[in-house]
Amino acid sequence: MPSDFARSTNAAPPLALLGGTAVRNKPFSSRPHIDEREVEAVAQTVRDGLFSRFVGSALPGTREGLRQTSEELEKLDAPASFFGGPNVRKFEAAWARAHRVPYAIAMNSATSCLTAALMALDVGPGAEVITTPLSFTATATAIVAAQAVPVFADIDLDTLCLDPASVERAITPYTKAIMPVHWCGNAGDFHAILDIAKRHNLHVIEDAAQAPGTEYDDRMLGSYGDAGVFSFSEPKNVMTGEGGMVITSNPEVAEKCRLIRNHGEAVPMPNDTDDFALNIVGYNFRMVEATAALGWVQTSKLEMVNQIRKRNYQYLRSRLDDVAGGYLLPQRITHPESFYSYTAAFRWLSEASGISRDTVALALRAEGIPVATGVGRLMSDNLLFQRKLAYGRGGHPFSSPVYHGKVDYDPAKLPNAYLAHDVEYLGFFLLGHPNTPADMDDIVAAFEKIVTRRHELVAYEKNGKPSVMPFDRGRG
Ligand SMILES: Cc1ncc(COP(=O)(O)O)c(C=O)c1O
Repeated sequence: MPSDFARSTNAAPPLALLGGTAVRNKPFSSRPHIDEREVEAVAQTVRDGLFSRFVGSALPGTREGLRQTSEELEKLDAPASFFGGPNVRKFEAAWARAHRVPYAIAMNSATSCLTAALMALDVGPGAEVITTPLSFTATATAIVAAQAVPVFADIDLDTLCLDPASVERAITPYTKAIMPVHWCGNAGDFHAILDIAKRHNLHVIEDAAQAPGTEYDDRMLGSYGDAGVFSFSEPKNVMTGEGGMVITSNPEVAEKCRLIRNHGEAVPMPNDTDDFALNIVGYNFRMVEATAALGWVQTSKLEMVNQIRKRNYQYLRSRLDDVAGGYLLPQRITHPESFYSYTAAFRWLSEASGISRDTVALALRAEGIPVATGVGRLMSDNLLFQRKLAYGRGGHPFSSPVYHGKVDYDPAKLPNAYLAHDVEYLGFFLLGHPNTPADMDDIVAAFEKIVTRRHELVAYEKNGKPSVMPFDRGRG
């Protein structure tokens, strides 16, 4: 924490918001780590005419393949199959190895993966799924896409992940699953969530979109639940443009995900059970070969790109503690050694500092530092939930005759999430390649100005509350 003397001097240069020169005048960059390997792998798919090699009907070998491990399917010697082409199967095998599970199923997005995983576990009409309000919109809407009803539990202000006590309170006779989100890559109090799920016999679908390659105790995040889901959209740790992956150790979940991904309704035969035929309703969630080629090359860099995020995060966090500690609280990370910061999240303490979070965000942006004040809006604020409008005009799935619960999207039930999001949250996306500690220094320098000259910002606020654009992740 800076000394009172340091804080009371006006040694720092004038704030850009108040007419001074900005700390930074070049954009931050957020780019995939690309070299000749990606270029060559993609070029080869094009040379070979390998665009998509999925066949959406039951070719010979399909029934046997449905429960084979990803490593077994990688060896399949076929130019086209129900399980996709060689690049898709190679990416899946590499991802499964990296996360120490037998099955990985690639799809066109994490959103599709979350929907498919829920359907694979038969979490659908009539069921409630407990999740956090603080996530990208897809976490909750995937639950609706599977025709179940999301129930929001509150977050823990320190971890910014689900608060186990709130989860426990949200359980009803209709709860069938919990979908924790490893927010920014942080698992939060995940063991407590797993324990609740075990005691109440609930499925767990981990939204690990932001936590690839992350060891948590002796296993990888994503591998604890019945299913875990990753995203490869930008600017994730591993990027393929668009794309997602389900991992699981359960052959039945793998089988069903593979069927849901690829028009699997063509596969069940009249002598099959309802359990086998259930929830396969004609989706096409396939990944194309060029994307998968990017994916298996990028998987070989997972450890390296994660280490870049770890280095930048640890540096930024320790420098900000020197400069703004006491005003800026970092997210409590429950596994600091394996935290690869998708975003560096902090809470700005307005009372201690005398300035609001929104003024800080404006001041940072004026200094050339992109910052997010949240996720656009909490998922619970989405009209979809506030008006209970999803499929058609009859209120399905919220007032479906097969749903006997009474979900309530009252913000008053989520005080921590609203406090964090509307008042305190500051998130920096710019921790990955090609950013370095020198880039982090610019964020630190901007805070140094804000803290040292905060009395000027107090005066600035007296002229009226700032209006601030909520989301600026600063893509370069
Ligand atoms: C936590 C979380 N869940 C789900 C998604 C959705 O991923 P996708 O864009 O691959 O569908 C994202 C993407 O940003 C995310 O951050």
